[in-house]
Amino acid sequence: MNILLKKQGLKVLNKLNLSEHVFINRVRFDYALLERMKKDGYMPLPKRAKWETTMLCNLRCVMCHQTERREEAMKSGAKQINKEEMLKIVDNLYSAGVEKILFKGGEIFVRRDFFDVLDYVQEKEMGVNMITNGVLINEEIANKLKNYKNIEAITFSLDGLRETHDRIRKMQGAFDKTVNAIKMLKGGNYFLNIACVIMAHNLEETKGLVELGVELGVDAMTFTMEMFYSTREIEDSKMIVSGEIYQQRSERESYEYSYERMKEAVDYLKSQRHRIFINIQPKILREHEREFFEGTLLQNKIPLGCDTFFELNINEHGEMVVCPFVKEGYANLVDRDLKEAWNCKEMREIRMSIMKGAGMMPICMRCCKLDNTD
Ligand SMILES: C[S@@+](CC[C@H](N)C(=O)[O-])C[C@H]1O[C@@H](n2cnc3c(N)ncnc32)[C@H](O)[C@@H]1O
Ligand code: SF4
Ligand code: SF4
Repeated sequence: MNILLKKQGLKVLNKLNLSEHVFINRVRFDYALLERMKKDGYMPLPKRAKWETTMLCNLRCVMCHQTERREEAMKSGAKQINKEEMLKIVDNLYSAGVEKILFKGGEIFVRRDFFDVLDYVQEKEMGVNMITNGVLINEEIANKLKNYKNIEAITFSLDGLRETHDRIRKMQGAFDKTVNAIKMLKGGNYFLNIACVIMAHNLEETKGLVELGVELGVDAMTFTMEMFYSTREIEDSKMIVSGEIYQQRSERESYEYSYERMKEAVDYLKSQRHRIFINIQPKILREHEREFFEGTLLQNKIPLGCDTFFELNINEHGEMVVCPFVKEGYANLVDRDLKEAWNCKEMREIRMSIMKGAGMMPICMRCCKLDNTD
């Protein structure tokens, strides 16, 4: 870490501190709190919120884990939360002490009112992080973004070099648009990150991607193992939460490549950390690569955790969700006070159900948030 910081200078140090939660995305597990949560479901009010402001999207990426949700949103388009409701939620978060909001989608830039919301969040002096496919960012949008004082980090999804990325994102020209957006947004006082989902389509391109990240001069790159789950894992998880789990793109039992190929790619990424800040997700890969890959974490009694319980997750309707993959939403934050709703009976009960037994759901086993707590 010291070498990296010396190389990249104080500016990076400042940015790292600012954007800790995007790039050092690990909550220090508070064991006393987790023990209490098992007993009564209580959690202290969150400082960070992750908000899926829309499920609509301009792309149809092959691996997208939100495919089912997007189709649902398109059918009932009218149900999307409106600007006034979003502003009410910002007020609600602010008065409960939330300090940072990570805006996610769907694709945030399909929302015409997104800048009104950003203006309001800036007025409240709350920090902003965002993740985007970058395709809709033109010069005007880039210039607007550069003027905000409270944007701490912008993450762009890039899953391969030109041909591969366009194939995965199912849009010719997507790569050029995203790369162009990154170039336009350089030089701001925020952290620029590239996020890549590792899958069979691009496993051989991690090298090219690192070169691209270095060439573009981004501050960090995040490589995430593709998430998916099997029908069995969905069914077993449904029993735990007594509700529906969002389907993934396809229900599968295993990765489409060997452990050795994955390891080669991951080792290569680790070896490049002296050149650029590289974050590999899920964090559990640091100590338990093989068990993660083979799906044997539970069998091997590895103590597992996830930071999602410590943070507020809000869905596209403005409801709190305990995890973005569990369909059930609780307490709409447009009109329910977060201070009261955060530990309402339903939230406590669902936290307790998930923490019971192994402490996680079967669908957690290939999730990018999976961490170990030992
Ligand atoms: C769902 S997207 C929403 C934001 C925006 N539309 C984008 O693509 O950046 C958030 C992130 O999830 C990643 N993602 C999509 N499907 C995934 C999967 N099956 N496994 C892991 N990450 C996935 C995307 O590549 C993106 O980096
Ligand atoms: S751009 Fe993001 S939300 Fe849209 S389909 Fe691709 S991964 Fe999913
Ligand atoms: S690890 Fe499990 S609880 Fe955490 S976000 Fe993933 S699926 Fe949800």
